[in-house]
Amino acid sequence: MREYMNKNLPVEERVESLLSLMTAEEKIAQMTQISYNAVSGEEYERFLNLGIGSFLHVLGEDTQKIREAAQKTRLKIPPIFGIDAIHGHCLLNGATIFPSQLAVSCSFNTELIREMGRVTAREVATDGLDWTFSPVLCIARDLRWGRVDETFGEDSYLIGELGAAIIDGYQCDNLIVACAKHYLGYGEATGGRDAYDTEVTERKIRELFLPPFKRACDAGCGTVMTAYGSIDSVPLTANADILRGLLKEECGFGGFVVTDWENVRALMTNQMVVSSIKDAAKTAGEAGNDMSMHPPKVYACMVELANEGKIDMKYIDDAVRRILRVKFKLGLFDGKAEIPRSVIACEEHRRVNMEITRESLVLLENKNNILPLKNFGDSKTIAVIGPNADDIRAQYGDWTYFSHPEPKENVIPENDYYTVLRGIKTVFKDSNILYNEGCDIMDSSRESIAEAVEAAEKSDVIIAVVGDCLKQYGEFRDRADLELSGAQFDLLKALKATGKPFIGVLINGKPLCIEWLKSNCDALIEAFNGGDLGGLAVAELIAGRFNPSGKLTLSFPCCSSQMPCYYNLYEGWHGGRYMDVEPGNVYDFGYGLSYSSFEYDNLRLSKNVVSRDEEITVSVDITNNSGIDGKEIVELYINDVVSSIMTPVKQLRGFEKVMIKAGDTKTVTMKIKPEDLSFINKNCERTIESCEFEIKVGTSSKEYLTAKLTVE
Ligand code: BGC
Repeated sequence: MREYMNKNLPVEERVESLLSLMTAEEKIAQMTQISYNAVSGEEYERFLNLGIGSFLHVLGEDTQKIREAAQKTRLKIPPIFGIDAIHGHCLLNGATIFPSQLAVSCSFNTELIREMGRVTAREVATDGLDWTFSPVLCIARDLRWGRVDETFGEDSYLIGELGAAIIDGYQCDNLIVACAKHYLGYGEATGGRDAYDTEVTERKIRELFLPPFKRACDAGCGTVMTAYGSIDSVPLTANADILRGLLKEECGFGGFVVTDWENVRALMTNQMVVSSIKDAAKTAGEAGNDMSMHPPKVYACMVELANEGKIDMKYIDDAVRRILRVKFKLGLFDGKAEIPRSVIACEEHRRVNMEITRESLVLLENKNNILPLKNFGDSKTIAVIGPNADDIRAQYGDWTYFSHPEPKENVIPENDYYTVLRGIKTVFKDSNILYNEGCDIMDSSRESIAEAVEAAEKSDVIIAVVGDCLKQYGEFRDRADLELSGAQFDLLKALKATGKPFIGVLINGKPLCIEWLKSNCDALIEAFNGGDLGGLAVAELIAGRFNPSGKLTLSFPCCSSQMPCYYNLYEGWHGGRYMDVEPGNVYDFGYGLSYSSFEYDNLRLSKNVVSRDEEITVSVDITNNSGIDGKEIVELYINDVVSSIMTPVKQLRGFEKVMIKAGDTKTVTMKIKPEDLSFINKNCERTIESCEFEIKVGTSSKEYLTAKLTVE
């Protein structure tokens, strides 16, 4: 038996032993990832027989064929199969589809997000796959950007915590590895333009964009994906300071870096920093990209470079070491545990999905406590109106078999799913339900509005389900205008004019301008893209079968140009507002209602004066003043009052989700570690300055109690 096949040896020894046997071609094959859908015929056969390191987007039995081909190569190195299992194993029709990453972020529930990762890993593994290109750790601060739905929202700290939770879930059973992406600053591209240049400084990189990736490294994330785009005109793919320096050396990342789709070629075709793919391959390899995601041509270029002595083998060896390390750790050489296909969308997975879907919903308005709807039985009529009331594609959102690898119109989901209409029919089974689409999201024809109004007039309550559709977000689909599109606004106004109680439900990929809805609805629910069970959870919330507990992880502007609107903006000393709109957001980060009402009292610190290396605890008493048990998300913000450079007036540094029984008071205690008081100074160093801090603990980024802390 070859030494590297001995599973009793430590991983590092196995890696070195295998590396010492490999030719340059074999090493470069490991650094190559090929899209299964984009190669065919002879080319495909050739790569199969070469023992290519990785394939992406293979499903089902085809993985087996590829594994068998690898077994016929000289060193029998198994391939690693990657897939975009972004919110569940969503490219497989029939698998559990969770709410989008943005939707689940609103749960602030790290345990459930970890469970979502674990369930996804099991379903991905049934297909013989080893690797998900998830989570997205980009910060969504420009809402025009097309990929806001894929993120955990606008706050760097929260993204790090939720990212670490899902990475742990993906990797805990050692069935698959996670991939933290898109490294770095991708979501902050100028003007919200996808895959564009980002204008940020090194200080801001260290303060905001790097920490979630550092957190992912500390959580043991197996891989990182290089972003499309550039920072201050330097393509990420060509940026050795950011890939080798920051990630591999400073953050101690021990896994491997994969490029995004065709990043190497883009150095020549889009970014034009080199004039040939061969130069692109050299630049990318030297910068620290370990594996190139398509096109196959990069393989040939790299081999030429190696044969001509034009690339230092130390770069290739470093890349291959990292790739082999991940493969050995995952057990690819030793036979991974097989997961039966029966786990796909099984009861246990559905239970996790139901729980997280419920906790992801955010109740934005509930005027005069109209919700939960009481006494709804056979004598009542409910009008369910709107283009997203019965559209599962809109509810699933991006990165499902409907949208990838290419958009499809007519696919029938194989698993059991609930739109809001089906959810309402199921939960209010004794009521009379009248449904009308009312209008389209893309087309502005008003023709159907009259029919919808007719249905509304015959009803006791209106549930209007509006939002956006797949054509309006995702890669290549940034939006300049965040108003409700098509005739949705006219539809809502016509429904409101009936004078009936009016509940709004939003199914959307990103915050839209909903000031009118806020003022005119009786209740409003933000559901984002809720996956299989989104519609059922909305209906249950309306019926009061559970108590909502989600809060927004993004702020909502009042109009498209009132941006950026994230909660930790600097104040600005000329008012920081636009003169032609009211100041303030429509909804702020961290906001969300419950059927309970919580009162915060007695905020206290274990010490009010500390030295720079001391940890303290913060406690607050929270009383549930209502007759219903409820979960509250407790948010902790810190303000460094006077610092040598400007810092935000509040920065999230902790949160807890706690269940408080009706009438009970609970004391919630959170830790503040020295690094929570630190910031990156003008020399790009992390520092804690002696000064006054405000510790704010409360129910949203706008409502909190404040205590003073002095650091000496
Ligand atoms: C996206 C990545 C994705 C990759 C593979 C790219 O276009 O930016 O997020 O993982 O494709 O599908």
